[in-house]
Amino acid sequence: MGNKDHWEQVYSTRSADRLGWYTPHLQTSLRWIRELHLPGDASIIDVGGGASTLADDLLDAGYRSLTVLDLSDEALSSARSRLGEKAASIEWLSGDITTIELPAQACDLWHDRAVFHFLTETGQQEKYRANLLSALKPGGHLIIGTFALEAPPRCSGLPVQRYDHEQLGQTLGPDFELMRHDKQLHVTPGGVEQMYLYAHFRRLA
Ligand SMILES: C[S@@+](CC[C@H](N)C(=O)[O-])C[C@H]1O[C@@H](n2cnc3c(N)ncnc32)[C@H](O)[C@@H]1O
Repeated sequence: MGNKDHWEQVYSTRSADRLGWYTPHLQTSLRWIRELHLPGDASIIDVGGGASTLADDLLDAGYRSLTVLDLSDEALSSARSRLGEKAASIEWLSGDITTIELPAQACDLWHDRAVFHFLTETGQQEKYRANLLSALKPGGHLIIGTFALEAPPRCSGLPVQRYDHEQLGQTLGPDFELMRHDKQLHVTPGGVEQMYLYAHFRRLA
């Protein structure tokens, strides 16, 4: 199962707020999601959500159909403990996004911050894309954050594929229309600068 051992070790040896990608709130993601004006019962999946607080913030914003998927059980259990009783309102899925089977055409919004960029082989990217196309409704939204071209070549010690918005669009293929894109500088808790590309795509109906 991919790099599961790597991720389990990462999450079991450091607290969530010491991880390189940690940020107290995923502000760009939250703002872009709010600006979609989705109904409260929209089905939202955070792919590779890890221990991030996006699920907490989406619950607080009134979204009721949330799924967090991650390869690491440690990450999911850290997020669940933080959420306490609220964790029961969220569906937690442990698995690899390139192989897990998700309900077909059920998802209104697929969110991914810093997960797709770990898929450096074409075959892995194709499997991710097949899952995305299977799960996301036609007309559904994809909000994705990857390392930008000027970011370091590794994240969490693993090689990553860096993108600009055109390359990301080409990799995702003709089923997706680019709606907006932006860059955001992330500074890790250790002070390293990492430029992210954020992009919103819509699946063509
Ligand atoms: C850099 S972290 C980002 C976590 C979270 N999205 C955030 O922004 O805080 C990457 C996350 O993706 C998860 N991950 C890596 N490869 C994955 C895969 N193939 N399927 C599902 N999750 C994966 C890791 O366990 C980790 O939680």
